[in-house]
Amino acid sequence: MAFPSQFLDEIRARVRLSDIVGRTVKLARRGQEHMGLCPFHNEKTPSFTVSDDKNFYHCFGCGAHGDVIGYVMNVDGLTFPEAVERMSAEAGLEVPVSTPAEREQEKRRAGLIDVMNSASAHFEHTLWSPDGHPALKYLRERGLRDETIRNFRLGFAPPGNTLKTALLSNEIPEAALFEGGLVRKSEEYKNTYDFFRSRVIFPISDGRGRVIAFGGRSQGDGEPKYLNSPDTPLFDKRRTLYGFDRARRAAHQKGRVIVTEGYMDVITLAQAGFVETVAPLGTALTESHIMQLWTLCDEPVLCFDGDRAGLGAATRTAARVLPLLVPDKSFRFITLPAGEDPDSIVSAQGPGALESLIETASSLSTMVWSMETTGRAIDTPERIAGLEKRLEDHALSIADRNVQYRYRSLFRENLRLFSRNTRNISRNTQNHEIFRRDKSAREAWREDTGVAGFSHLRSGPEILKKRLEQVLLATILNHPVLLNTFAEDIAMMNVSDPMLDKLRQEILKVHAQAEKLDPDQLKNQLEIQGNIEILQSVLGPEVYVHAAFAREGSTEENVLSGFMEVLNRLLEPVRRAELEEARQYYINDPTDANWERFEKLKTDSPDRQAIQRGTEETTAPAD
Ligand code: UTP
Ligand code: MN
Repeated sequence: MAFPSQFLDEIRARVRLSDIVGRTVKLARRGQEHMGLCPFHNEKTPSFTVSDDKNFYHCFGCGAHGDVIGYVMNVDGLTFPEAVERMSAEAGLEVPVSTPAEREQEKRRAGLIDVMNSASAHFEHTLWSPDGHPALKYLRERGLRDETIRNFRLGFAPPGNTLKTALLSNEIPEAALFEGGLVRKSEEYKNTYDFFRSRVIFPISDGRGRVIAFGGRSQGDGEPKYLNSPDTPLFDKRRTLYGFDRARRAAHQKGRVIVTEGYMDVITLAQAGFVETVAPLGTALTESHIMQLWTLCDEPVLCFDGDRAGLGAATRTAARVLPLLVPDKSFRFITLPAGEDPDSIVSAQGPGALESLIETASSLSTMVWSMETTGRAIDTPERIAGLEKRLEDHALSIADRNVQYRYRSLFRENLRLFSRNTRNISRNTQNHEIFRRDKSAREAWREDTGVAGFSHLRSGPEILKKRLEQVLLATILNHPVLLNTFAEDIAMMNVSDPMLDKLRQEILKVHAQAEKLDPDQLKNQLEIQGNIEILQSVLGPEVYVHAAFAREGSTEENVLSGFMEVLNRLLEPVRRAELEEARQYYINDPTDANWERFEKLKTDSPDRQAIQRGTEETTAPAD
């Protein structure tokens, strides 16, 4: 929407900039100007000035600069029209509406907002009435406190047409219910019925916190699990992020935002203190989502499931983000253990677990690199050239020339190191096939290399596991190049010893930040960070006695085969959890697709023998 420039001037004239800024920043008068701590970067001494007569703010520290409309856009993450709208209300002005048709449209939207608000109130009321009790119980059992349930205005839609009946008796016309997506027309087009039935209701708000749509989670066996309002004059799901209005302030304060996949993730995380969380509504991130996220912070953190579907989603997102990159704006990526989402992590392990995942989030460039290298054999000149071409294509899709240049040089440098390190691996392709979870290849390889495994360690499974973890970390410390291919697997691992787990996380962090590493750099860095003792124990003789291959001087062939053996053993429980999840999925929803998914994982999963050798007390999945 274009606004007449006289109108914008009128706003600037009527609103005093220092009043608006003064609501978020403590200002002190200094001659004609006001000064304070800049809200756009972290500082201890004020370099942020506000001039009422010149009508602009300027920061001498970070260069932030603009007028009152720009200020609310940046501080509250509003779009230009939203900022104009808010400031015109502040100035006591009506936003000019250009054509009668537009005016009509505005009026209808305003009317619809009221309808949606009434619907939301009705759903919420129902949740707290006896009819809503099973739904309320469900939400409590998922760990939500009553305060959180009220805060997010969660509701319940019972079976039948209760919403329609209630709103019609409130003299809301049926046509408005239809326009707001609250009722559906029946097949014969003779009457309408409630769109949401037997569902827990999640109101979806716009950037100003006004309800514009709903999501509903099925209670019982209604399909699909989640149903969103259809697109309406108020609601375009490709432009809407769940939780955005609440997340904005926290995101600006903390300088970060977490992007999850679902409603429950947003709510559970907010309850656990991560108020800066949003989620798209069942779609992949769109360009509009990306631009909105960048008004919240420079590097939003995306969470993806550690399974194949998650990797696919991360890949698609990376492809969508690359063309839009500009200096300083990017995304970071968290890979969650297979089958987990942020909700389940925080619920089961507490906020600290998510916090440390965020700390070790990978950069976008690292993500693109591992997307193209993980799980494939890149061991011949042709394959390396193929990798080079794919990386080049990714880099060339970046429109910004500076960022593009940086990606190209980074990928070239990585490739140079990679091809140097892969030269010796070329004779050992079976190893890579194991990584593709091909059972026969795995068995072939086991016989082939004659690795005795660690079965001679007859100690209990706990001690065995810790030993394996030490060996794995020692191998990585001496051969950090392994991280280029296996960082994601290491991120997925569940390490029970807290000191070892800390070391694992710090290794990942150093790796994510450094892009390329040699063993000495890595160890130095970790020592600086205060890990001397744990490094000494991991790199000590009682570890090497079980695994000579872990030493710095051993051949790359030995390193890789030993490392793969240990990694496979340690990832076993994760894979089993994946299988169990697929089984539950099928039981809840016995479709062909779910059956195929289960069967596929089942045949992919490694032989029982290996499982039993590893952790004797755990039960194998029933099938
Ligand atoms: P998930 O299936 O991962 O659900 O869908 P979830 O968020 O973990 O929910 P719980 O924990 O089982 O309650 C992630 C998101 O994808 C969209 C929803 O936005 C959901 O939050 N979705 C999912 C749909 O739109 N329709 C569906 O049928 C399923
Ligand atoms: Mn979930």
